[in-house]
Amino acid sequence: MKRDIISVLDMKNDFGEFIDDGIKLKRNFKQGRKDSSMDRKTLGMIFEKASTRTRVSFETAMTQLGGHAIYLSPRDMQMGRGETVADTARVLSGMVDAILYRAFEHKNVVELAENSSIPVINGLDDLEHPTQIVADFMTIKERKGHFSGLKIAYVGDGNNTANSLMLGAGLVGADFWIATPEGYEPSERFIRDSKSLARKHKSEMEVTNDYREAVRNADVVYTDVWVSMGEEKEKEKKEKAFKSYQINEKMVSLAKKDYIFMHCLPAHRGLEVTNRVADSKNSVIFEEAENRLHAEKIILKKVIR
Ligand code: CP
Repeated sequence: MKRDIISVLDMKNDFGEFIDDGIKLKRNFKQGRKDSSMDRKTLGMIFEKASTRTRVSFETAMTQLGGHAIYLSPRDMQMGRGETVADTARVLSGMVDAILYRAFEHKNVVELAENSSIPVINGLDDLEHPTQIVADFMTIKERKGHFSGLKIAYVGDGNNTANSLMLGAGLVGADFWIATPEGYEPSERFIRDSKSLARKHKSEMEVTNDYREAVRNADVVYTDVWVSMGEEKEKEKKEKAFKSYQINEKMVSLAKKDYIFMHCLPAHRGLEVTNRVADSKNSVIFEEAENRLHAEKIILKKVIR
């Protein structure tokens, strides 16, 4: 049976392996060990939205593992001229070994997966960003060594990255606090699923509008853009609503001294985070980005057989 990664929950039974094996693959790569596990394998990559990290990390991961990746933009493929998602899925299933799909709408990722006989990986949609979250927890494990008892504070929009991060925290048993302005909380489904996972570990999973409560004594302070791709019309309204949720030196003074600052990037410096925090000694944002490369390798190895 094929394995799709559409949600973090698709990794619920072996999320720890994704993290630990991702770290091992990074170490092996740095030691110059060759891994040709994607020999003669091809990844099709459909990007409806812009990407730097996801595109480059998946393409490079395939190259380093001896395989090949094809970048497909709907602007240049027939899907952009009306060919259905389902037909695209059936055609690509006969040619490539897996599909990475960055889509505006979650339902299209699901439709692609349902009509493919090969694995489909969600490269970010309006609900989740599962591949980012593997790299994030690899980074936390490398820096902190463990998850139990750690407090992760996410401050900002209850968006796709926040949804996936909450689920990931629930799976590893880290305490997770999310602080958003009123009306920008994650959806009920993600809160419910994350709380249910947290209960199994007896860890905290809290949603609040009070960023001070979230950041106080945090080990990890995480934020993301306030205006996601596709929300450009809401820019002015959101920037006003999120103004006091900026990660700045005053905000992080509430966290533990050895806190780490994380951001999935791209960052809008001066909005959700100041330069002084993004470039501080506590910031791990570029390690986090580098870890995307090794996270993608373990994801590819888990789904392409
Ligand atoms: N974090 C992330 O997904 O980056 P890109 O949008 O550049 O792929």
